[in-house]
Amino acid sequence: MTETVKGSEERKTEKGPKKVFIKTFGCQMNVNDSERIKGILKRLGYEFTDDWKRADLILLNTCTVREKPDRKVLAHIGEYKKVKEINPRAKIGVCGCLAQRMGEELDRRAGGVIDLMFSSYNIHHLPELLEKVERGQKAIEILDEPPEDEWEMFEYPTIRENPYWAFVTIMKGCDKDCTYCVVPQTRGRERSRPIRSILQEIKDLVKDGVKEVHLLGQNVTAWGKDFETPIPFSYLLYKIAEIDGVERIRFTTGYPSDLTDDLIKAIGEIPQIADALHLPFQSGSNRILRLMHRYYTKEEYLEKVEKLREVRPDIALSADVIVGFPGETEKDFEETLDLVEKAKFEQLFSFKYSPRPGTPAAEYPDQVPDEVKTERMHRLLELQKRIMNELSRRYPGRVVYPLFERYADGKLIGRDEHNKWVEVKSDQKHLLGKIVPVRVKEASAYVLYGELV
Ligand code: 5AD
Ligand code: SF4
Repeated sequence: MTETVKGSEERKTEKGPKKVFIKTFGCQMNVNDSERIKGILKRLGYEFTDDWKRADLILLNTCTVREKPDRKVLAHIGEYKKVKEINPRAKIGVCGCLAQRMGEELDRRAGGVIDLMFSSYNIHHLPELLEKVERGQKAIEILDEPPEDEWEMFEYPTIRENPYWAFVTIMKGCDKDCTYCVVPQTRGRERSRPIRSILQEIKDLVKDGVKEVHLLGQNVTAWGKDFETPIPFSYLLYKIAEIDGVERIRFTTGYPSDLTDDLIKAIGEIPQIADALHLPFQSGSNRILRLMHRYYTKEEYLEKVEKLREVRPDIALSADVIVGFPGETEKDFEETLDLVEKAKFEQLFSFKYSPRPGTPAAEYPDQVPDEVKTERMHRLLELQKRIMNELSRRYPGRVVYPLFERYADGKLIGRDEHNKWVEVKSDQKHLLGKIVPVRVKEASAYVLYGELV
């Protein structure tokens, strides 16, 4: 042990670059924020490490959407703080949604080991905050509201794991007031990123060899509504599709009532838009949807699905659903099962309701006991498994178009237009980064196995 301590001290006195270890929790927005944070840290001369024990800076980009991620983050801080025993000068930073929700309270809960704290509002302040940390002070900057200059974060490049596709954040925050959700507290009101900034980033990405862009926002379908002169999201999609070299476009997450006719038309008309859409419905019961403050009905949701399938008959839908929202009866839950049966999702992300501090639903009476949530979840998953098996039967014999992004163990691996993983036995590594036709031989619920056409 003393050896290790001594060893790392020697390393500290060397002039070599500082090492940072970043751990990201939560959604794709957080993944993209971490990519941006890496861009900033690289400019500041940091190197990246996968070994937290060797890090000079450990940064946790956190999530607080349910209680489970909260617990995970706290457990990880408990583990990572041991880095200070190995390297007394190592620093611990926490950013993202849990940092925004808890602020200094989080540092107290963690025993005062946190040196640096910020959120998705002030990623671009990282250079100044780190200077403060370097001076031996705690740099905790949790702002009540996003600052005016927050778009400056986009002036830093992202550092992505994959060279062929890229996340592009197009808006921040959320204006919906779903009664279960902590996001308005952690990411603020909706702010759309200016169109020029988005198009410029995509042009730059394409120049770097990116073929597929994945537009991100808590509620991307509301992009442009908050501009002085509002612009429909569909317009942005047409503009992106005009950029030479953009071969595939995905976007997440959509809100059912914002899936307007012009947007459905654009999805039908723009060939680069993938044949997949993530459209959370949260519950199939109109009574629960009202309690959730979701502004659509089950019937309206299914109508949107039908309209989508008129323009894209084979679209692969995915969705989020919450089980056991306060007051959910067996009858309400059966409505959810019915919606799942009718909509036929290629993938379903189901969550047990988790009360979040400061959200209205956490105070609602009739909280559903955990055993009931578990039992309902089980039934929902069984149903979804059956549907996925049915849907996967349509693939064998067909040609799909994966963008190959990885080569491992003699296989090319990529995601196709339906967002399915496709695997092909092949050593033709020159096909990496290309969208290639593949004939499907065999299909499981998650992976399509095929051969090059
Ligand atoms: N409890 C359970 N699930 C939640 N989600 C958001 N808030 C909660 C909560 N309090 C789910 C929703 C959302 C997904 C990202 O997480 O389904 O779409
Ligand atoms: Fe988690 Fe929601 Fe924050 Fe994403 S936006 S990191 S899901 S709390």
